[in-house]
Amino acid sequence: MKALVLIGGFGTRLRPVTYSVPKQLIPIAGKPMLYHVLDELPPGVDEAVLATGYKADEIGRYVTEHPPKIPVRMVAEVEPLGTGGGMRNAGGDMSDPFLLLNSDVIAGFDSAALLARQAERGGVGTMTLVEVEDPSPYGVAELDGDDRILRFVEKPRREEAPSRWINAGLSIWKREVLGRIPDRVPVSWEQEVVPTLLPGRVYAYRATGFWEDAGTPERLLRAQRYLFEAGRGGRRAIPGGTTGKGPVAVDPSASVDGATFGGSVTISAHVVVGAGAYLEDSVILDRANIEPGASVLHSIVGPRARVRAGHRVSHEVLGEAAEA
Ligand code: GDD
Ligand code: MG
Repeated sequence: MKALVLIGGFGTRLRPVTYSVPKQLIPIAGKPMLYHVLDELPPGVDEAVLATGYKADEIGRYVTEHPPKIPVRMVAEVEPLGTGGGMRNAGGDMSDPFLLLNSDVIAGFDSAALLARQAERGGVGTMTLVEVEDPSPYGVAELDGDDRILRFVEKPRREEAPSRWINAGLSIWKREVLGRIPDRVPVSWEQEVVPTLLPGRVYAYRATGFWEDAGTPERLLRAQRYLFEAGRGGRRAIPGGTTGKGPVAVDPSASVDGATFGGSVTISAHVVVGAGAYLEDSVILDRANIEPGASVLHSIVGPRARVRAGHRVSHEVLGEAAEA
């Protein structure tokens, strides 16, 4: 089976860091978001086709230098085609059925159960749904007693959401659905295509367990805490020469002597952290410099950014080469 992974979004909710780093390459718990997704594909998936657009070259270069566990192939959009247009553009030789994944979703449930559900029930597809408190930022499904999806509304107003069960960004589809997407024009899969597929029978697989769309700073850091706790990255022990507590993921090329950790921190390549600096619940990208005595909490610090000595950064996103 093949997986089609949507990876062409602009990452607007993670600006300014996504002006230079595509969302999927932001490291969480020691490895880029995209690799957490690729490494959890169910057994039986033998190729992932990455539908890229924004910063396709950077993603291509990274994937070539750091080959994922399963073979990947990239298909880039010249102009952004939306989720549906991207699927149509990249889906030329998909398997039947194929898996569809958003590349910013961190989940703790067993995706093999989704495949079994599709095999049992048939229909044109099965979507993994999760229950959330506020469904309005997501695609929301109305279900019948048989878990068949009767209605699907993308990003409804909160009071108009038909339920609290939302599209988890992991689904399985018959190949024929790709033929239902107009070619070479921007199309939203969720808004324009999924509703037209419902008469052909689309079922839900209701998953329980951890789920997060890591597309905003707060949710990205929550996903990172989960990955550390679940042992899916980093380690409990802090590096020699530092104080405080893990878990942390510290790249071996980083220099962190004399730093203090408060847990759930990723430190990327060639980062320099000065003595007496404090880091907690944060992601620090390549070559950033956290000067002596500075503190960084609940934040994302972009590549080559600098946090000045003694300065405190809390709940912030710093872009490439920013100074704070
Ligand atoms: N190739 C391509 N082209 N990919 C795109 C494009 C595009 O033009 N636009 C977005 N993507 C990719 C993003 O990179 C991301 O992996 C995925 O499609 C979904 O886009 P997001 O921008 O993250 O959408 P969302 O989080 O607002 O909503 C989606 O995900 C929710 C669950 O996390 C929808 O699928 C919702 O229905 C769903 O509930
Ligand atoms: Mg998203």
